[in-house]
Amino acid sequence: MFEYAPAPESRDVVDIKPSYGLFIGGEFADGTGTSLKTVNPASEEVLAEVAVASADDVDRAVRAAREAFGTWSAMPGSERAKYLFRIARIIQERSRELAVLETLDNGKPIRESRDVDLPLVAAHFFYYAGWADKLQHAGYGADPRPLGVAGQVIPWNFPLLMLAWKIAPALAAGNTVVLKPAETTPLTALLFAEICRQADLPPGVVNIVTGAGETGAALVNHPGVDKVAFTGSTEVGRLIARSVAGTGKKVTLELGGKAANIVFDDAALDQAVEGIVNGIFFNQGHVCCAGSRLLVQESIAEELLDALKRRLGTLRLGDPLDKNTDIGAINSAAQLAKIRELSDLGEAEGAERWSPVCPLPDKGFWFPPTIFTGVAQSHRIAREEVFGPVLSVLTFRTPAEAVEKANNTPFGLSAGVWTEKGSRILWMADRLRAGVVWANTFNKFDPTSPFGGYKESGYGREGGRHGLEAYLDV
Ligand code: NAI
Ligand code: MG
Repeated sequence: MFEYAPAPESRDVVDIKPSYGLFIGGEFADGTGTSLKTVNPASEEVLAEVAVASADDVDRAVRAAREAFGTWSAMPGSERAKYLFRIARIIQERSRELAVLETLDNGKPIRESRDVDLPLVAAHFFYYAGWADKLQHAGYGADPRPLGVAGQVIPWNFPLLMLAWKIAPALAAGNTVVLKPAETTPLTALLFAEICRQADLPPGVVNIVTGAGETGAALVNHPGVDKVAFTGSTEVGRLIARSVAGTGKKVTLELGGKAANIVFDDAALDQAVEGIVNGIFFNQGHVCCAGSRLLVQESIAEELLDALKRRLGTLRLGDPLDKNTDIGAINSAAQLAKIRELSDLGEAEGAERWSPVCPLPDKGFWFPPTIFTGVAQSHRIAREEVFGPVLSVLTFRTPAEAVEKANNTPFGLSAGVWTEKGSRILWMADRLRAGVVWANTFNKFDPTSPFGGYKESGYGREGGRHGLEAYLDV
């Protein structure tokens, strides 16, 4: 195997301040609460101290958003579009800086933040900018109205991309927002706040409050919030659904997943191997729609697993800022502990664990790419979201058995089908209870296609024309 010389991206392109306040009404201001530290998970180095917004701070942010709502919602869509286009262009111009900051705070490889996250973030703003003056043609009535103030809570796995999924459609539809980034990855949202100022966005249209779960709860439970949008764990999603029930707030929840990636015996195996790797090892498996269950047709299981193991042997784990790195750091000590616990359980339950030879750095949070074979449907590693680079392999004999096993999960966010036959793809897609079904590919995202789940994966759709519905009074 070739050895690659280190090819680190420069971190000099970002300027991280020692501490950050909240972004309320177009200004950065100190919070009235405590603070938290965000670290680089690849080195455990503290990057910055960030305010923890108190209930009072959240209240100020919601008021600022309410005050801005009148003007913003009354503005012609073509004028709102100009702001969104401007934000999209600034994101493109500053994409290297944003990508490096995302990688530092999150641990994901620079190759991904640079080539996947950032292009998609800009694309979302461009796409919804295009809708802002065409809302009457979106299929939601002749004069669809915005809802008001959106309270948005996002996770740490795609910090800036989840911000874009939330903020772009909300603003295009004429809403104003208060957004809370995750406690381990607040920095790109704070840089985005600076971009809002650079774009001359009217004060209060976007407000960013940092903090952890308590801040999130204060936001979603604030009576001045008209719409709640959440992406994160099913556990917190359930709490939120319960707490907003009966308040008249509109809610969308994007929660966990346990997707089946299904490979038939007629699939192009080399491509399927790439799709499996992309499905579960992209972003260290911190992906709600990750293909965490491989269902392989029994007749090709051995051949496919041999090829997959050979491929895993070539993955490079290490410094996320190195342009040759495939697998970066696990986002937090807590997430690493959860991955370890579930993997140990997998072994204890009788599945066979395999990882390539893969030295781990001394500092930081790391987990090697891992495959479990001999997995039964009842095993916890086959049922629960690991949210890490851990693949559970199961086999099937017939298409009907594949469908039954794929659907045998409390989740229903995504699925993948690998086969040469178009008719089989359609037959499978009809029967899979998943919001997205990828055919001969995986983890493909596009701002024009709706994304969302069934069952415990949540409700509502983000992206595309469908994503506007969540922000309109329809
Ligand atoms: P989490 O659901 O606790 O965190 C997501 C966001 O919700 C964060 O911004 C957090 O501060 C906020 N939050 C926490 N408690 C809240 C509350 N009571 N009210 C309002 N907001 C609240 O997820 P966590 O703890 O980071 O990860 C736990 C597991 O959740 C992961 O191991 C993974 O399985 C799953 N997860 C799924 C994600 C997805 O994209 N579907 C994203 C992140 C986590
Ligand atoms: Mg961090």
